[in-house]
Amino acid sequence: MAEPNRRSAAVPNDLEAFWVPFTPNRAFKRAPRLIASAKDMHYYTPEGRAVLDGTAGLWCTNAGHNRAPIVEAIKRQAEELDYAPAFQFAHPKSFELASRIAALAPADLDRVFFCNSGSEAVDTALKIALAYHNVRGQASRTRLIGRERGYHGVGFGGISVGGIVANRKHFGTLLAGVDHLPATYNREHQAFTKGEPDWGAHLADDLERLVALHDASTIAAVIVEPMAGSTGVLPPPKGYLERLRAICDRHGILLIFDEVITGFGRLGYAFAAERYGVTPDMITFAKGITSGAVPMGGVIAREGIYDAFMRGPEHVAELFHGYTYSAHPLACAAGLATLDLYRDEKLFDRAKTLEPQWADAAMSLKSVPGVLDIRTVGLTAGIDLASRPDAFGKRAYEAMERSFHDEGVMIRITGETLALTPPLIVSEAQIGEIFDKVARVIKAVM
Ligand SMILES: Cc1ncc(COP(=O)(O)O)c(C=O)c1O
Repeated sequence: MAEPNRRSAAVPNDLEAFWVPFTPNRAFKRAPRLIASAKDMHYYTPEGRAVLDGTAGLWCTNAGHNRAPIVEAIKRQAEELDYAPAFQFAHPKSFELASRIAALAPADLDRVFFCNSGSEAVDTALKIALAYHNVRGQASRTRLIGRERGYHGVGFGGISVGGIVANRKHFGTLLAGVDHLPATYNREHQAFTKGEPDWGAHLADDLERLVALHDASTIAAVIVEPMAGSTGVLPPPKGYLERLRAICDRHGILLIFDEVITGFGRLGYAFAAERYGVTPDMITFAKGITSGAVPMGGVIAREGIYDAFMRGPEHVAELFHGYTYSAHPLACAAGLATLDLYRDEKLFDRAKTLEPQWADAAMSLKSVPGVLDIRTVGLTAGIDLASRPDAFGKRAYEAMERSFHDEGVMIRITGETLALTPPLIVSEAQIGEIFDKVARVIKAVM
């Protein structure tokens, strides 16, 4: 008998086929957290229940959800030009967007390379760093330095320089020749600090130790998040980034700021580099560039880095790197509309203005039983919870479930930390609402 044609059978709309990323699939599929639509500060479930977005999606919808100018720009672009080859050809909006981004970036960070995600942005920056030294005749500079507790996406480059054991331990030997600075967090010295902690600048000096160990002539670049987001909101200690910059300068090492989270207003400035007055050699970005509406990422490089490649025969590509969807027309249209919104609504300034109130509201949870630490910077807060004795991370997981199902607020978790990072359009009343709800949730899971 012929095999029945499985393809022609009705496909059940169940939850099994989709392997949900960075998610415990069995638990999720038993009690899914489904989102069907969104507007401004709210998500809506398929049943139409509103959920206040305390996380800007995944730290990306900085302008709020489904904003009309962004939606319109995407629609118009889809009608006008769906795709143009990203290699050897280009479309006008890619240049326009690059110029706009360069204008927002500090100093001579003026050259923009586009890709589609933060992970690709990180791999791109690491490759540019290696190639830069190579084209300048310093090919021995191959070592990359990351930091413990750093998150740089999930490419092999990103997990190699990243410092999260769960993201590394199952994936073999990773990139060779990588080393790590120590994490900047120390609860004993920093607990319940608003903004940048006073303690910890000296941890940057560990880079001198790594230089002494490996020799500067073997080190290509250091990559750090100015504020480490994914391991629970770790603002840089005062003076730390300046010290890192000085040591890199002393030894000819490139400094890369991974601003995938901190870019586009999260810390009250276009880039954290501006907040801290420290100019890196490259900035990686993603997420907020399109307010999450279309995937896009990129690297902003100092002019001198770009110039170093502009030699050799003019008919040959200077950098053998790129993605089919680099500077995709839909992403560029969304990016331009998003930057207009940020400018017209002064959303970066808004984040800066709201920061003190946000920090006060977060710190009001200090006395809630089971709260071990709270950190804030810009429109960002991390709240550490005491673990259940037998299950690290279970309490935070329950808190996320309860927040969504019972309180109608979206929070993000990492380990036993709750992270709150709302769209920059959050109102003062909504800040109060977020922390009231989170306080109730924490009490319920203790
Ligand atoms: C600092 C940083 N770098 C890179 C990434 C990876 O971005 P993506 O998930 O778009 O690949 C993230 C994502 O959260 C991030 O926070």
